[in-house]
Amino acid sequence: MTKKRLLTGLQSSGTLHIGNYFGALKPFTNIYQDYESYLMIADLHALTTVRDAKLLRQNTIDVVKDYLAVGIDPTKVVMFRQSDVPQHTELAWIFECLVTVPFLMQAHAYKDKVAKGIEASAGLFNYPMLMAADILLYDADVVPVGEDQRQHIEYAREAATKFNSAYGETFTPPQEMIIKAVGIVPGTDGQKMSKSYKNTIPLFGTREELEKAVMSIVTDSGGKRPENVYAIHKLLKTEAELTPLYEANQGKYKNLKDALVEDLDTLITPMREERAIISDSDIKDILESGAVRARERASAKMAQVKQQIGITI
Ligand code: ADP
Ligand code: TRP
Repeated sequence: MTKKRLLTGLQSSGTLHIGNYFGALKPFTNIYQDYESYLMIADLHALTTVRDAKLLRQNTIDVVKDYLAVGIDPTKVVMFRQSDVPQHTELAWIFECLVTVPFLMQAHAYKDKVAKGIEASAGLFNYPMLMAADILLYDADVVPVGEDQRQHIEYAREAATKFNSAYGETFTPPQEMIIKAVGIVPGTDGQKMSKSYKNTIPLFGTREELEKAVMSIVTDSGGKRPENVYAIHKLLKTEAELTPLYEANQGKYKNLKDALVEDLDTLITPMREERAIISDSDIKDILESGAVRARERASAKMAQVKQQIGITI
């Protein structure tokens, strides 16, 4: 039986935290082998926020290392950089000629920026059409993303439908796969863990960094269970394991935090060690061979598109 095709993308925009791990990386490791999988580093999308060449280059390498360190087998997934496949920007332009300005103005990412009084670039405005191209070039059946990306998949479906009705059946409208495995991982302040709130526990942090983050978890002064500590602990151990520990240490927050550091370190140490032995040149090789495979598929699809819209002679 042929496998369905899966494609997902992630921006190369910073250091991963345990919220990213439980909310995105771990669920991905559980499913990617059931599909013909494509994992794309969206470095062109990252240009909407990153304006530092050295940083962008480093982020791209880092994010690939992160995925390998959590157990992704690069021979079982096509890992590639968006910028290595020029068909993405080419198809995005074609979609931009089909959708309207008011339609793009309804995108949350754009609306939120404008509402905050931040000047939005034309790149940010067109962001959903580049993402539509990412997905549709590969005829992806499923697109695993976080809840925040749901609207972008709707935009991709709309681009597919608009194209099909103008030029004939060409694209399969894609389906989102919203990953809801763990819900929201709370940060050290009890809010959603997010790099923009500075409340993270770093995924590949050293023991000292883990300690520092865990000790800063906000606890209430009542004698009850420290919920912010427990909520993170629950991702690592079962209730049956945790109940006796928390009962024996009522009010002793330091002991409970020490236990959490220990359990986090047990999870992270092997991944940290795995990550340390991956070289930049390993990453270069993986991305180069991924680019060849991605271009093969993207250029075949693009040849069909060009035929249909009349830019071949
Ligand atoms: P951040 O909020 O730190 O900027 P991103 O928006 O880059 O994180 O998220 C990347 C992926 O990690 C998304 O799939 C998102 O759903 C997931 N994710 C991020 N933060 C959390 C969290 N606190 N709990 C669960 N999943 C999360
Ligand atoms: N916009 C996505 C995010 O910020 C990243 C992304 C770019 C993507 N292209 C994609 C995700 C294609 C899925 C499919 O998380």
